[in-house]
Order: sequence, then structure tokens, then C-alpha cells
Amino acid sequence: MKRVLTGIQSTGIPHLGNILGAIQPAIALANQPGNVSFLFIADLHSLTTVKDPELRRLNTLAVAAAWIACGLDTQKNFFYRQSRIPAVTELTWYLNCFTPYPMLANAHSFKDKSDRLSDVNAGLFTYPVLMAADIILYQADLVPVGKDQVQHLEIARDIANTFNNRYGHTFTLPEAMVDNRVMVVPGTDGKKMSKSYQNTIDIFLPEKQLDKVIKSIITDSTPIELPKNPDSCTVFSLYSLLAPPDDVSQMRNNYLSGGFGYGHAKKALLELILAKFTKEREQYKLLMNDLPQLEKLLSEGEQKTAEVAMKTLSDVRLKLGYA
Ligand code: ADP
Ligand code: TRP
Repeated sequence: MKRVLTGIQSTGIPHLGNILGAIQPAIALANQPGNVSFLFIADLHSLTTVKDPELRRLNTLAVAAAWIACGLDTQKNFFYRQSRIPAVTELTWYLNCFTPYPMLANAHSFKDKSDRLSDVNAGLFTYPVLMAADIILYQADLVPVGKDQVQHLEIARDIANTFNNRYGHTFTLPEAMVDNRVMVVPGTDGKKMSKSYQNTIDIFLPEKQLDKVIKSIITDSTPIELPKNPDSCTVFSLYSLLAPPDDVSQMRNNYLSGGFGYGHAKKALLELILAKFTKEREQYKLLMNDLPQLEKLLSEGEQKTAEVAMKTLSDVRLKLGYA
């Protein structure tokens, strides 16, 4: 049984790029027999940049609802808010005291953030230690992450190793599972879809608003009657990511043969999204309209998770002379 663990920042409502690029693959991995997944909302990490409490609450619930709506099995797996398992902050303190200062000072993500952000707080500096605690508290074997997080995984292994060498085997050494995903979902302006570019497609929007977003996808000005190049069209790229191959070929022919406008293509894309995500949209709406139910699912996950956390933490406390 492999323990697969990953954290999700709650910085907004997950968009189509997040769903196709991260949520669906993580759920597929969680559903593989022999795996058990720990998926959590990294709401403590979010305090390094987001200070607004209402925004944090809303984003956290929206992210949770999106994952459950996309089919995450909360019974089989461990789905929780990072902040609700206080063992992680206690472990972070212990790990801080085994983390050499230069290792953090040289971390790329810290250097990058401290160049970009005006609020360079100590939380940003110790971000990788909290991340190490996130991982080794649950004895994770595999951590699927993007390339930008690989150094954080090396730091986690380093810290775990230092501790194990001194106190005997305590933590599993986690391995990064680097995702060389080629899939890059384009946004409404044709660039990579990202919250930071305000070009996202939120598939959970009510139909009318979703229609407006789809209509805002930028296309060129080729008139309806002329043939169009599918390979340089964002609407076609999005359609191809979602439709079965036969429908994609048909759409390609429509583009090439002329008499087919971008308005038609956008209508087809909207219909496809509505059809493909019917269940997810309904489920998301249900959960966001029934926050006590969402809260219940999360707290059940957190209760289960806390037990796993306490096992490791008790061992650490004993080894350090706190018990
Ligand atoms: P954003 O760029 O909107 O802030 P995040 O950085 O929070 O998104 O990404 C969360 C996860 O979603 C990451 O695993 C990332 O690789 C994936 N992801 C984000 N945008 C896309 C995209 N346009 N195409 C494919 N995957 C994406
Ligand atoms: N730092 C990760 C990111 O920005 C989120 C995260 C927090 C995480 N703790 C983690 C990822 C533990 C994997 C494992 O995406």
C-alpha cells in the first residue's frame, strides 16, 4: 500500500486548467488499487500571502467542493484542511530546529518570492519546513508535484534523514513524483490558463455566465464563410481536450471547410462543457448550498487523519524528551 500525498493551495475556485491538469489525475491516482491518498487544502501555507479571513473560508470550501464534485472518494482517502490537524504545526517547530538556516535561505522559491512580494514574512522563509511536516507526519511514500516543488521535496527528505540518523528510524523518506504533464490548458486569451492571468474558465458557473466566458475567448477575425485554421484557435484546442476523437475530427473538418463561424464553435464548446461536467456542476452546487454537509465530510476526514498524525507525533515527542 503506497501513501500518496499532495497539498492544494486554496487560492480560488479551481478552473478548467486545474481540473484537467491536477484534480482529475490526482483522483485517478487515488482510485488506483494499492494506493491511499492524503489530499489536503494547504490553508496554513495560504497565510503567507492571503490575510483576508472571509476569502480564506470561501476559497477553502470552494476547493473542497470542487474536489468532491470531481469524484474524490472521501471515505477511501484522507481529505482534510491542513489547519485542522494541529499536530502539523507542532511538528513544524521540531523540524525547524533541525533545519540549517542556509538551506532555507538558498531555496529558489523563497528567493523568487522575496524578490516579488512586498510582504517578506518569516512564514515565507519557513514555508518548506511546514511543507516537510505536511509530508513526513503522514509517512508519505510518493508526493506528486510540479517541477517548481522538487526542491521542497529535497528539503523534506533532508530534514527527515537528519532526524532519522540522530533518533533512529522515525520518518519515511518521501519521493517526488514529478509530473511531466504535457497538457497545458489554454485560457480565454490563448495563454496558459491561470488565476494570475485572469483568463480562467470556471466550469461551475451558472450556464449564462459560463456562456459569457466562452464567448469572451479570443479568436481572429476570419469571416464565417472562409476556412479557418483549427490549430491556431483556442476554442478548437479546448474542444479537443474534452471531446472524443471522432467529434474532434468532425470539428476540424468544420473549421477547414468554411461556412462555420467561431460563434458556432463556441456554442459547441459550451454544450460540450455542460454535457461533460453535468454531474460535477450539480454536485458542486449541492455542496456549496449545503455547507453543513460539506463541513461534515471535511470533519470526518479530519478525524481519521488526526489519528494517523498522532501516531507519528507521539513517537517524535518521545524521542525528543517531551513525553
Ligand atoms: P494557477 O496558475 O491558476 O494559480 P495553480 O498554480 O494553483 O494554478 O495550479 C494548481 C495545479 O493545477 C498545478 O498542479 C498545476 O500544474 C495545475 N494547472 C494549473 N493551470 C493549468 C493549466 N492551464 N493547464 C494544466 N494544468 C494546470
Ligand atoms: N507548496 C505546494 C504548492 O505550492 C502546496 C503544498 C503544501 C504541498 N504542502 C504540500 C504539496 C505538501 C505537496 C506536499 O503547490
